[in-house]
Amino acid sequence: MQTSLIILKPDAIQRGLAGQILQRFERKGLRIAAAKLMLVPREQAEKHYAEHHGKPFYDGLINFVTSSPVMVLAIQGLEAITVCRTLIGATNGRKADPGTIRGDFGMSGGFNLVHGSDSEASAERELALWFTDNELTDTPRTIEQWVYDPSDL
Ligand code: RTP
Ligand code: MG
Repeated sequence: MQTSLIILKPDAIQRGLAGQILQRFERKGLRIAAAKLMLVPREQAEKHYAEHHGKPFYDGLINFVTSSPVMVLAIQGLEAITVCRTLIGATNGRKADPGTIRGDFGMSGGFNLVHGSDSEASAERELALWFTDNELTDTPRTIEQWVYDPSDL
């Protein structure tokens, strides 16, 4: 099992799309391991997007993600990191495939609704940045026996 750090960005919350986007992850069969709504402190946003420091879009990105509350989620499942990135789609909503979150809801490269961890190393770093161990749940769901074939596991 993997856990991905997902952020429903300010545009998703302001546009009232949190429920519809969260449903995409839930209906896929992924488990919500943690969730919170928060206004992101600037320092936290800078740590999260440290890899982009110095790039032309960096200041705009930090301003955007701190501009209005976000919903931070830990989403768990088999190969969840790749599965979430596939559900999210390409960075720019105008280029993202239909059927993906960005492809279905977005028209922007910057205001692109959702963040998802891009690797196991990123997920580990980001989960520690956004959640305490206490906030991450691990209660199993009985439905999982109907989500996964035992031979998957
Ligand atoms: P995210 O980290 O938010 O999940 O997005 P991503 O992996 O698809 O894209 P990434 O390359 O990590 O970029 C982080 C965010 O910076 C903005 N961006 N703008 N103008 C540009 O060329 C550009 N490139 C990236 C986007 O808002 C992107 O989500
Ligand atoms: Mg990224």
